[in-house]
Amino acid sequence: MRKSIFLTLFLVLIFFAADSRATERLPSLPPIPADNSMTPLKIELGKMLFFDPRLSSSGVISCATCHNPSFAFTDRVSRALGHKHQVGPRNTPTVLNSAFLKNQFWDGRAATLEEQALGPIQASVEMNEKLDNVVKRLNAIPAYKELFQEVFGRTPAPVTPKNIAKAMAAFERTLLTPNSPFDRYLAGDKKAISKRAKRGWDLFQNKGCIACHNGPIFTNSTFQKIQVPGSTDLGRYLVTKKEEDKYKFRVQTLRNVALTYPYFNNGSVWKLRDAVKIMSREMLGSETGDKDADDIVAFLKTLTGDMPVFTYPILP
Ligand code: HEC
Ligand code: HEC
Repeated sequence: MRKSIFLTLFLVLIFFAADSRATERLPSLPPIPADNSMTPLKIELGKMLFFDPRLSSSGVISCATCHNPSFAFTDRVSRALGHKHQVGPRNTPTVLNSAFLKNQFWDGRAATLEEQALGPIQASVEMNEKLDNVVKRLNAIPAYKELFQEVFGRTPAPVTPKNIAKAMAAFERTLLTPNSPFDRYLAGDKKAISKRAKRGWDLFQNKGCIACHNGPIFTNSTFQKIQVPGSTDLGRYLVTKKEEDKYKFRVQTLRNVALTYPYFNNGSVWKLRDAVKIMSREMLGSETGDKDADDIVAFLKTLTGDMPVFTYPILP
């Protein structure tokens, strides 16, 4: 009897040990804030806003201009092109799986997706629009007004910057990429990734990449000092003004990294193999040769998951 209790305990322990490794699989749901439930209608509204260029002063730039679904929600240029063709200071990160980040932007200046969403509308190099104007414009479109009323209630007047941000954040929380070959590998399908990718996964752990790139989307959301080629950006320092934060940037997600080139905060590197070598040199102080770098690249390619499926919104 006692023996069987021990055996059960032992099996439970093994189960949990195996499970803790599996925590790196992409969860089916991200954390959802208590005050922004994800109702289908709110997600629909958020999707419409995400694709609507009338949130910009020119009327031609939407969130999806830079976070283009066909480019894995990036723009595939080194640095973002915004209002009046101005080139912004930084590379456009993907919005895919951003719901798992503990802070938003390369320098973490927004804590949540809700806080993040109103930034680009107002940024002079991005959509360059005043929130008052956006609220007026949306209120003047009956279908939008009705949808806001259905989602957020009639009183107080529901078309507000806060609710715009909430709806967009709810939509963004649906932009997940599950079922990558690596997730299937972790789930027990040993054939889901190649031998080369397995070697790359071993190197990724043994070299220490995993110290920063861990958790469900391969970032611990911390800030690390790095000066990528060609960058003079002060990074986190611009937010905190603390000397020790100079040149610190948030660890980037590696999910779908094979699709999110060019790399780094200034988009200066186009080849994943080069990015891996730079990381190894800068962050771990060790050179990685071509063969090891190619193995790591083979592993990184297994982090490309199923792209979110949704119908393209028809705007009122
Ligand atoms: C002109 C191009 C452009 C437009 C338009 C734009 N973005 Fe971005 N987005 C960027 C850039 C560049 C960054 C990184 C800026 C930084 O870190 O300083 C970014 C960062 C983000 C992030 C943070 C991701 C991360 O990894 O930290 C999210 C989320 C996001 N944008 C959502 C949106 C939403 C929602 C809209 C529409 C309201 C929008 N963006 C409009 C270029 C753009
Ligand atoms: C000390 C923490 C740390 C370690 C260790 C580390 N990284 Fe990074 N990684 C970062 C940070 C921070 C960034 C964002 C840099 C930037 O562009 O500002 C990043 C970015 C990247 C990028 C570019 C992602 C993109 O979309 O721009 C790749 C690829 C990458 N890391 C791979 C690796 C590999 C492979 C290793 C191991 C050889 C590694 N990293 C080790 C912190 C780390």
